[in-house]
Amino acid sequence: MRKTLIAIAAAALVAAPALSENISDPEEILTARHGYMLLLANQLAPLGAMAKGEMPYDAATAARAAASLAALASVDTSMLWAPGTEEGAIEDSSALPEILSNTADREARFAELTTASHTLSAAAGTDLEGLKAAMGAVGQACGGCHKQYRKSE
Ligand code: HEC
Repeated sequence: MRKTLIAIAAAALVAAPALSENISDPEEILTARHGYMLLLANQLAPLGAMAKGEMPYDAATAARAAASLAALASVDTSMLWAPGTEEGAIEDSSALPEILSNTADREARFAELTTASHTLSAAAGTDLEGLKAAMGAVGQACGGCHKQYRKSE
């Protein structure tokens, strides 16, 4: 039993470098970036629907979605903005080149999203009024960055 466990642990250590390899291929980074954005949108969707009255308010669902959004908004996304992934350099990218180069502004905008989504997370499970009041700042953090750095269709 003990031997088996040691063998499994050793195998896991050997496998670890492959699992922790840096993603450097622009195509993969773009896929990861789109996936990240879609995850944000996915968590925001029920919160937006409740705020607009398109879906009945449910405290547990709201709290869970807002907590997930806050967790996603706390992720370090710096690796998602690598050179070669900007619009014009690769197919299917809508990221204007400035979001890659204006690191300080990009990080400030993500910090804004982090703060707004933590405020939302604290309020969303309390009641619908609290959810509605905290949604605006999150919407602005998403929309403000898109307006500045996402190529419009
Ligand atoms: C700091 C800037 C920034 C913030 C904050 C931000 N986004 Fe984005 N988002 C972008 C950029 C740039 C793109 C275009 C990415 C691309 O095509 O490579 C994008 C693309 C998207 C897409 C399209 C993904 C796809 O598959 O084409 C969705 C959906 C999205 N964002 C949702 C959100 C939501 C929801 C929020 C807020 C909770 C948010 N974003 C916050 C910059 C931002």
